[in-house]
Amino acid sequence: MSTHFYEPRNGHGLPHDPFNAIVGPRPIGWISSLGSNGIPNLAPYSFFNAFNYVPPIVGFASIGAKDTLRNVQETGEFVWNLATQSLAEAMNSTCAAVPPETDEFALAGLTPQASRLVKAPRVAESPVAFECRVTQVVQLQRANGDTVPTWLVLGEVVGIHIANALLRDGIYDTAAAGHILRGGGPADYFTIGAEQLFRMHRPR
Ligand SMILES: Cc1cc2nc3c(=O)[nH]c(=O)nc-3n(C[C@H](O)[C@H](O)[C@H](O)COP(=O)(O)O)c2cc1C
Repeated sequence: MSTHFYEPRNGHGLPHDPFNAIVGPRPIGWISSLGSNGIPNLAPYSFFNAFNYVPPIVGFASIGAKDTLRNVQETGEFVWNLATQSLAEAMNSTCAAVPPETDEFALAGLTPQASRLVKAPRVAESPVAFECRVTQVVQLQRANGDTVPTWLVLGEVVGIHIANALLRDGIYDTAAAGHILRGGGPADYFTIGAEQLFRMHRPR
């Protein structure tokens, strides 16, 4: 098989960095947090995933020190909100680089709804939300130990809201929820639906 090989530190030699198109499509960490000034903040992070089942732990990477990172360091709390197809434009508008005093809920026309266990509000329009308490903030480093200005924020999910309409006989219906996922390039997203579903059980 002929391959395009490159060492990332020397550039990829392609029209667009393929890295996040390959590690994709990724779920979006649509993170709400509260500043110590009481102003709610909302922003998407696609370097996001789940890392543990019991207790549930999710994490996202702040590439550079951003408002969300500052808020979660100050308060130790955040909320993950599910980004769906009907919320795609609103989600996208919350990535605008605006001053910390700007409330991205208002900017995106979304409703902040009080959480049950943490002070950060959740997105009322989103059908699923995880209330999280920060467990670790890890600054990333290169293989040679040099630090990178990126921080991985990990949080224990202490409360979960699921719209009852997405529970079919008690089973969460991923396809019906209309999740959107981030691909690569400047603008690629994917949706998932029942057509993409296939089942495969682990070998016994
Ligand atoms: C779909 C999407 C995914 C993004 N993923 C990340 C990410 O993983 N890490 C990051 O630092 N910025 C990411 N961004 C950019 C941030 O959302 C943007 O810098 C935002 O202004 C940060 O907001 P804050 O300063 O309020 O935290 C992403 C933007 C979009 C639209």
